[in-house]
Amino acid sequence: MRILVIGGAGYIGSHVTRAFLDQGYQVTVFDNLQTGFRENLFKEALFVHGDVMRPEQLEAVMSAGFDGCVHLAGLKAAGQSMLHPDVYSHANISGTINVLNQAAAARLSPIIFSSSAAVYGSPQYLPIDENHPKEPENFYGFTKLEIERLLDWYDRLKGMRYAAIRYFNAAGYDVQGRVKGLELNPENLLPIVMEAAVGIRPKISIFGDDYPTRDGSCIRDYVHVSDLAEAHVSAFEYVLKHDKSLTVNLGSQTGVTVIEMIERARAITGRAIPAEVTGRRAGDPAELVASSGKARELLGWVPQYSDVDTLVSTTWKMYEKYIFR
Ligand code: UFG
Repeated sequence: MRILVIGGAGYIGSHVTRAFLDQGYQVTVFDNLQTGFRENLFKEALFVHGDVMRPEQLEAVMSAGFDGCVHLAGLKAAGQSMLHPDVYSHANISGTINVLNQAAAARLSPIIFSSSAAVYGSPQYLPIDENHPKEPENFYGFTKLEIERLLDWYDRLKGMRYAAIRYFNAAGYDVQGRVKGLELNPENLLPIVMEAAVGIRPKISIFGDDYPTRDGSCIRDYVHVSDLAEAHVSAFEYVLKHDKSLTVNLGSQTGVTVIEMIERARAITGRAIPAEVTGRRAGDPAELVASSGKARELLGWVPQYSDVDTLVSTTWKMYEKYIFR
């Protein structure tokens, strides 16, 4: 079977590519390398350097014929999306419209789309299941929700099947160390903790310790990127087999506080990791934890690597070579 992975050189995309290759699929990666890395390309996969903003490039790559497509190309910094909605609507919504229109013309289905827990906004109850109200609180989450709605209409009107996969907090690296690219200027907790561990940055800021949680810092549901990646393969196979679209949460169903994550990182890395409590970051809910019962039930998805120690140790394996003080 042949799979096109759009955005396959990025952090999540490269792990998704790895998972399809490991299952024996033939994979073509299409990526503009704006936030993806050449080091994330695998020699077993074909690579096409192209951009979702160029419909003719999508048309050309899709003309090779594929059994399905994973679409991960887009921008993902929630804070930036509030400052630059024009950039985010263009990259995420317009880019996806190009993907959908070219896929429809090429009769390429299903599309496995990388969505986000950001579609829910602040939790009205926990854990968050797929029926939770969708009230995104940042523009990034809004773009993901709009794309999900587009997917639904293309399903109804053009028979294009899809899986919308709502990630909670993706973290960790391939346990075998096969993904090589490190994100530049990371905005997420664990890579920032690692940068503080090796001395790339002097310390980590803890964004608030006065939340109503067990230690006052925010609780999140961290899920290993290889567990996420495997779920893309299962979701693709599910949609193909049942000829039915699917929307699922992917999370570990376990809440971890910021302070707990830093403490485990100190223990595992043996590094001091200086930390300082600063003010709350705007738009951070106190607690986000997924219900991923639907993925477990329909896809048989059981996270293997999403415990805190594996998340930290696989990330540390990537960063320890950069220790410089
Ligand atoms: N945090 C710090 N200091 C930092 C960075 C983060 O204390 O330097 C805290 C945040 O306040 C938050 C937690 O660490 O409590 C995780 O923050 P991230 O920025 O890593 O992730 P978010 O929870 O804000 O968002 C992530 C993805 C979104 C997705 C969401 C779903 O980036 O796309 O998870 O749970 F929607």
